[in-house]
Amino acid sequence: MGSPHWKRLCLLLLAGLTSSLLLYSHYHATVEAPTSQRIIASLLQPGPLVLAPSGTPQGASSRSWALGGSLESGNSFKPSAELEEPEPSRKQPSPCLHSVMARAKADPKFREIFRFNTPVLMWDQHFTLETWNRLKTRHVPYGWQGLSLTVVGSTLQLLNASANRHLFDRAAFSGGCVRCAVVGNGGILNGSRQGKAIDSHHLVFRLNGAVIKGFEEDVGTKVSFYGFTVNTMKNSLISYEEYGFTQVPQGKDLRYIFIPSDIRDYLMLKSAIQGSPVPEGSDKGDNPQKYFGLEASAEKFKLLHPDFLQYLTARFLRSELLNTQFSSLYMPSTGALMLLTALHTCDQVSAYGFITANYEQFSDHYYEVEKKPLVFYANHDMMLEAALWRSLHRAGIITLYQR
Ligand SMILES: *[C@@H]1O[C@H](CO)[C@@H](O)[C@H](O)[C@H]1NC(C)=O
Ligand SMILES: *[C@@H]1O[C@H](CO)[C@@H](O)[C@H](O)[C@H]1NC(C)=O
Repeated sequence: MGSPHWKRLCLLLLAGLTSSLLLYSHYHATVEAPTSQRIIASLLQPGPLVLAPSGTPQGASSRSWALGGSLESGNSFKPSAELEEPEPSRKQPSPCLHSVMARAKADPKFREIFRFNTPVLMWDQHFTLETWNRLKTRHVPYGWQGLSLTVVGSTLQLLNASANRHLFDRAAFSGGCVRCAVVGNGGILNGSRQGKAIDSHHLVFRLNGAVIKGFEEDVGTKVSFYGFTVNTMKNSLISYEEYGFTQVPQGKDLRYIFIPSDIRDYLMLKSAIQGSPVPEGSDKGDNPQKYFGLEASAEKFKLLHPDFLQYLTARFLRSELLNTQFSSLYMPSTGALMLLTALHTCDQVSAYGFITANYEQFSDHYYEVEKKPLVFYANHDMMLEAALWRSLHRAGIITLYQR
């Protein structure tokens, strides 16, 4: 559930920000006792998301990092000034009567929050001068501030297949409702015997340390999408290796959803499509085939649009952390981003292994042998996410697995 950004966090804390220690513990205190008013207020105040200037260590390092990258690259990559922004990915019409969209539109609160024409994915046609100028003013994951134009541009250029423009092809399903399951890694799934129910969905989303072997009865085996940032994927391979997460799920029909939270994600994505080692940066020399298998092609990979991440954060998960010095670190968890991606693409969505009101009864992850308390990372707001899932479940927009 919480993506292991702890390394970065530790670095940040060690970097001499002594006062943040105080704030961090204050955050723990507040986050564990949220007031419902606060959550409702944040849900009801969609609007432009104000992010702090990137004067934080994180912002500074990714900036200098990208500078090195662009100095190195000789040929400059130009966004197209002629191309118009593509129309928002016009959703293929759905014949589903009881869809997320229908239910959201019928709900007085969520009607004001959902904007179903927000683009979910990004592809080659998005690389325009207009988009570059707009996104270069926002830091990752909401924009491209400080990122190398060459790296971003050459990556997007490769996303030119029609499969890059939608998560799935509706034509592959014979009418009716496309039903999706999103499987978080929460301890609630241990002993749940939900495997069959999960696999009976048309599409199954998994993320980060999604251990399957040995837990088939509880979590199923089907994987249609695996979502991650390069950071969370690699941290999962390290942190959950002892529980059997020794490899990223692979398969012919499996598609990967990149969350662009760093220049690393653009670099890895580009190398994955090209089937070549990562040429520069912190993953230099890494072979993407080690993670995603031998099939290197654009069809295999999806990239979430920074505008989509901005929209989700501003409208669904506008945390109070954005008003603290953690604002530039804050982002919704990988699980939250996958669940919200499913909500904007599938007709019906079930969420398994996500945080519930009684989370304290369960271990952090379903594969732990000894019960471990849920880890609250300072860059996520799990209590706000819990309130959102509860509220979407009550509105009949998702089915949240609870026990
Ligand atoms: C996409 O771009 C690649 C590399 O530039 C090219 O080989 C391929 O034919 C293009 N595909 C489409 C569908 O345009
Ligand atoms: C999870 O399930 C396994 C096997 O079913 C069990 O051995 C283990 O103790 C459980 N973990 C927790 C934290 O309950």
